[in-house]
Amino acid sequence: MYAVTGITGKVGGALAKTLLAAGLPVRAVVRDIERAAPWAALGCQIASARMEDAAALAAAFEGAKGVFILPPSEFDPEHGFPEARAVIDAVSAALVKARPAKVVCLSTIGAQATQVNLLTQRTMIEVALRKMPMPMTFLRPGWFMENAAWDIASARDSGLVASYLQPLDKPVPMVATADVGRVAAELLQQDWTGTRVVELEGPQRLSPNDIAAAFARIFGRPVHAEPVPRAHWEPLFRSQGMKHPQHRIRMLDGFNEGWIDFEREGVIQGHVDLETVLRDMVSRQA
Ligand SMILES: NC(=O)c1ccc[n+]([C@@H]2O[C@H](COP(=O)([O-])OP(=O)(O)OC[C@H]3O[C@@H](n4cnc5c(N)ncnc54)[C@H](OP(=O)(O)O)[C@@H]3O)[C@@H](O)[C@H]2O)c1
Repeated sequence: MYAVTGITGKVGGALAKTLLAAGLPVRAVVRDIERAAPWAALGCQIASARMEDAAALAAAFEGAKGVFILPPSEFDPEHGFPEARAVIDAVSAALVKARPAKVVCLSTIGAQATQVNLLTQRTMIEVALRKMPMPMTFLRPGWFMENAAWDIASARDSGLVASYLQPLDKPVPMVATADVGRVAAELLQQDWTGTRVVELEGPQRLSPNDIAAAFARIFGRPVHAEPVPRAHWEPLFRSQGMKHPQHRIRMLDGFNEGWIDFEREGVIQGHVDLETVLRDMVSRQA
């Protein structure tokens, strides 16, 4: 049995569906039991646990052949990343107690970066879980194509994609969450020893201009990307309610300056292209 956290989200859902399609048993680990019904209907066992609850996670991981860890996103963490630390402590304690045979943990492109930024939260979980007694895989995907969900309304209504990724013609490693989930499911079924890092991107690198062009094809109207000047980021993020925008700003700097990137040769390529992802999101928002 494979225990899957984050199953009600994009990556965990894609992963679980891949396992179920292969006829493999899945335990859905949910924080809100009311969201478990569709997974129960697909034949999953159900366990309830928040990612900060060591005892509940240990029970959810008990008897698992493999566990998938999806660290929750925290876009506006406090200094020192206490939110990520709480998850790391709970997950570590649960893995030590339940001793699943192997673990795949979702991480990110640039987890090896030494400059503090939003992704430092994944650097921290990689450091902690490397000490676990079972085989461990860190899956480091590129920028999710689904981040373009934030641009749909503006592309459709104003023909504009406001971009923090700059310059606008710089290709960035991006990947569809369907590919991330599928690859995570494949990794979980493999046997390996020790710790390994697997990096993953989509079929081709994509610039903000490529995203605008894809929206133009989908909406049948001109769409162009425009850079949001860096000097505007902090007041803008604060006006949107962020209390510690510096972590997000430094992450964007990392992509733009090139110090957030893949670490090694042999990056795996997924199959799902940008237009497929955008068309799917647009049709679901319609
Ligand atoms: N966005 C990017 O470009 C990018 C790139 C690389 C890596 N990543 C990583 O991808 C992950 C996000 O994956 P995703 O897009 O699939 O996320 P998502 O669609 O937002 O789903 C998040 C999942 O986590 C669950 N969850 C959130 N907080 C939880 C908590 N405290 N306890 C238990 N469950 C909790 C959610 O449950 P509910 O349904 O109950 O909310 C949901 O199942 C993050 O780890 C992020 O660092 C993102």
